[in-house]
Amino acid sequence: MNSDLLEIIADETQLSEKVNELAEKISSDYNGKSFVAVGILKGSVIFFADLIRKLDLCKFDFMAASSYGSSAVSSGKINIKKDLSEDVTGKDVLIVEDILDTGNTMYLLRDYIMSKGAKSVKICVLFDKPSRREKSITADYTGFTIDDLFIVGYGLDYDEKYRNLPYVGVLKPEIYS
Ligand code: IMP
Ligand code: MG
Repeated sequence: MNSDLLEIIADETQLSEKVNELAEKISSDYNGKSFVAVGILKGSVIFFADLIRKLDLCKFDFMAASSYGSSAVSSGKINIKKDLSEDVTGKDVLIVEDILDTGNTMYLLRDYIMSKGAKSVKICVLFDKPSRREKSITADYTGFTIDDLFIVGYGLDYDEKYRNLPYVGVLKPEIYS
């Protein structure tokens, strides 16, 4: 285990089992209908790569975005750093994200993709921290629900580090405080 971590909360086997479980649910819900999977950069890339290889009939695309302005203000703005390259008009879209925290980014992203004319937008997240939520938003597919802990690995970073760890662990508080 990386020495900056307190403990591992999902090892490679647990991650791969969870990805299979999510892929089965998604495949059974879309039931042979084609859809566009949109991976949110950069945190979702490893999860995204593992997940889409288990899905049928999906095209894929990426976006990079963050929310800005005070999170207490309900009309937050979205800062799009990389836009969609596919036309999603009339398409079913599945957003794939690493973690749902306050929900501010996802709330705006979902609206943004709907405003591009998508027929439907569903959300798949590997981790969820519901106790941190500031916007009323729930994912359609959730891997692990966790307490208010700062986690890294399998795409998730702190200051762009740890994304390449093949497992997910809790970062020692002294590293980020
Ligand atoms: P929010 O839901 O708008 O607050 O933002 C979610 C984003 O914050 C995620 O996509 C991550 O990039 C980042 N984030 C939130 N919690 C964590 C964590 O525990 N580890 C690493 N990144 C996190
Ligand atoms: Mg992210």
